[in-house]
Amino acid sequence: MNKKTVRDVDVQGKRVFVRVDFNVPLDENRRVADDTRIRAALPTIQYLLDKGAALILASHLGRPKEGPDPKYSLAPTAQRLQELLPDVKVTMAPDCIGPQVEAMVQALRPGEILVLENLRFYKGEQKGDPKFAEALAAFADVYVDDAFGTAHRPDVSVAGVPAVMRAQGKPSVAGFLLEKEIRFLGSAVENPERPFIAILGGAKVSDKIKVIENLLGKVDSLLIGGGMANTFLKAQGYEMGDSLVENDSLDIARQLLASAGDKLVLPVDAVVADAFAADANHKVVGVDEVEPGWRILDIGPATIAHFANRLAPAKTVVWNGPMGVFEFPPFAKGTFAIADVLAHLNATTIIGGGDSAAAVEQSGLADKMTHISTGGGASLEFLEGKVLPGVAALDDR
Ligand code: 3PG
Repeated sequence: MNKKTVRDVDVQGKRVFVRVDFNVPLDENRRVADDTRIRAALPTIQYLLDKGAALILASHLGRPKEGPDPKYSLAPTAQRLQELLPDVKVTMAPDCIGPQVEAMVQALRPGEILVLENLRFYKGEQKGDPKFAEALAAFADVYVDDAFGTAHRPDVSVAGVPAVMRAQGKPSVAGFLLEKEIRFLGSAVENPERPFIAILGGAKVSDKIKVIENLLGKVDSLLIGGGMANTFLKAQGYEMGDSLVENDSLDIARQLLASAGDKLVLPVDAVVADAFAADANHKVVGVDEVEPGWRILDIGPATIAHFANRLAPAKTVVWNGPMGVFEFPPFAKGTFAIADVLAHLNATTIIGGGDSAAAVEQSGLADKMTHISTGGGASLEFLEGKVLPGVAALDDR
């Protein structure tokens, strides 16, 4: 990565603004249900504390629409951070800007952490409000971005604050998580050990057209499963019964099939169900046998074997999107089987965030993967070949 990192700045005795992605799921008691993203930020947080910095952590949580809403408070994440760092003083601010927060920032000592309240309680965060950017930038001497999951958003805390701080001669650098994510995803896409195979799944082709176009120029094979495969199969002339098919994307699917040749690998069989429900009747059929009244909810055993065969020689694999409706146990086999194949490969295996990361966690094979991204939308946009605003905003090396 040609961007400066926390290793390149002196933070001793300084106040450091760290944009983290603490947008984590909460349970019904408003406790953190999955702290993966909080733990993923710990190396940067610990490093900066050890170097004598005072930390101001900023994040969004959820998508609050109308200003402050306790449902979207970051307080549970501050509490979880305190549990993870029992020897560090972690304080939750009542807001993210304003006189009370300014006083708390002034009182912050090296080795201490102040967690700002949800940035999206202010509409300015997503509307590019320069005053909001200036207020946040005034808190610190150094800006650190460790929020890979939000690096695709051009929000004030991602792009605006580092721009203001640069104009003030203050450095803006990457944290270890952002650096690691870009290193794994970047080297997979730009300089992969071959064969390089990508696996794409999920419901919709329309969400992934740009990813397919970008990856087809780079991979040796592209395996497609999940609901999005239905549109390609329909484009090849197969009847898909009641399966999800995006008719608007049939033309682009035909063009992609024509340009991809045998690089693009589709399912040969499927698990079909008579309803979209966990307890629906289901059976395995060939992709040429899907009848009206039945819908594809998973890849079938012959497809699992076919994909495993193609994956066997791979040295680099990128996987984004489940192979079926893995939330329903009868339709999770394809997704978990692919996770199992990846776990046993002698290859660098990179899992996109979001649903794929959740599926790999559920399969119990997470620790067998080389890298699981903390960013769903961010990893997808990176795989589209886009420059992420959160990366572009940082100081060049
Ligand atoms: C995510 O979970 O993908 C990031 O935190 C970004 O959240 P957003 O999609 O609400 O911008």
